[in-house]
Amino acid sequence: MGTAAPRNPFKGHLRPLPAFARLMPTMERKRILTGDRPTGKLHLGHYVGSLANRVRLQDEYECFFIIADLHTLTTKPEKENIEQLAANVRSAALDYLACGIDPAKSVIYLQSAVPEVIELALFFQNLITVPRLSRVPSLKEMAQGAGIEEMPFGLLGYPVLQAADIMLPRAHLVPVGKDNVAHVEVTREIARRFNFLYGDTFPVPDVLVSEYGSLVGTDGNAKMSKSLNNAIFLSDDEKTVRKRVMSMYTDPNRISADVPGTVEGNPVFQYHEAFNTDKAEIEDLKARYRAGKVGDVEVKEKLVRALNAFLDPIRERRARYEATSGLADEVVHDGTMRMREEARETLNAAKKAMGMASVWNGIKRKAEDAKKKRSGN
Ligand code: TRP
Repeated sequence: MGTAAPRNPFKGHLRPLPAFARLMPTMERKRILTGDRPTGKLHLGHYVGSLANRVRLQDEYECFFIIADLHTLTTKPEKENIEQLAANVRSAALDYLACGIDPAKSVIYLQSAVPEVIELALFFQNLITVPRLSRVPSLKEMAQGAGIEEMPFGLLGYPVLQAADIMLPRAHLVPVGKDNVAHVEVTREIARRFNFLYGDTFPVPDVLVSEYGSLVGTDGNAKMSKSLNNAIFLSDDEKTVRKRVMSMYTDPNRISADVPGTVEGNPVFQYHEAFNTDKAEIEDLKARYRAGKVGDVEVKEKLVRALNAFLDPIRERRARYEATSGLADEVVHDGTMRMREEARETLNAAKKAMGMASVWNGIKRKAEDAKKKRSGN
């Protein structure tokens, strides 16, 4: 009370975007931060959940894509996991580039190489309670999935570290899959609390969830996931895609092609909706499926075609990037160096707002003065 809140050091980023800003890359645009844990190859579920939005928005927003290796330690701290990280980071970067994320427009960076995030996360830890974090459903699911019985401190803090990721470039928008919406909600609460205690410093970021929600697995399981072995990867070749689709789960009650089948909740049709650009073909297949006039094989054959048409340009771009050895590493390296500048700026501003910067600065100044006086000048 009484003291005026310090002026927001990032005010420029909160200015509304003029209509012509899209055409002027040097103008300040609003910012996006999102990313993935480097656990292996990315799949169609990642694409539908978040990658599609990233590619779509990279001209309109200044984008930061984090490869969150520190987050993998929350469920997999073992050495075997750490040994896989470099290869997984490279593979994630290649997946991004293959999908059309342009390193000339967007920053792709490695979380553990920007240590400021840890300091910011530590400040944020004081702005949220343990009961609040205990109510985040995804954390219990992650623990369960990893066979962990009791909640590790780091896993409970997963959303806090994620909040620091998001606030490090002062992002305004976070495109994520459904399972991460609760984490962005935690970020919003932390940002509000920080601004309340220390003055307006961070934007309160909005979440953007994909219009399709999450993609079901090829086995009909609610979620496509590498560990459930029900995924089609962005790097799968044509033969693998065919094999995966032909063995896909469809309407389990349909005993033959000449009896009516159910389209709703049928994974094959969900994939058609998400990836087949020929909407008339989808409508035709649906109508015939409901009437018992088309077999699963034809519906699947058409899906194979649609998926390969979708994946072909991705495969081409991947091959082009892979052809130059070290290119993915270079992209991550350069992005990380760029992110380090942002990180320093944000951390300095956060410490200044908190008054933390002057604790050390005060001690330092007095110590220097005292030394000077004693030595007689
Ligand atoms: N939590 C995300 C996942 O499920 C990865 C991630 C880490 C992230 N930091 C982030 C996503 C910041 C969006 C914003 O893999």
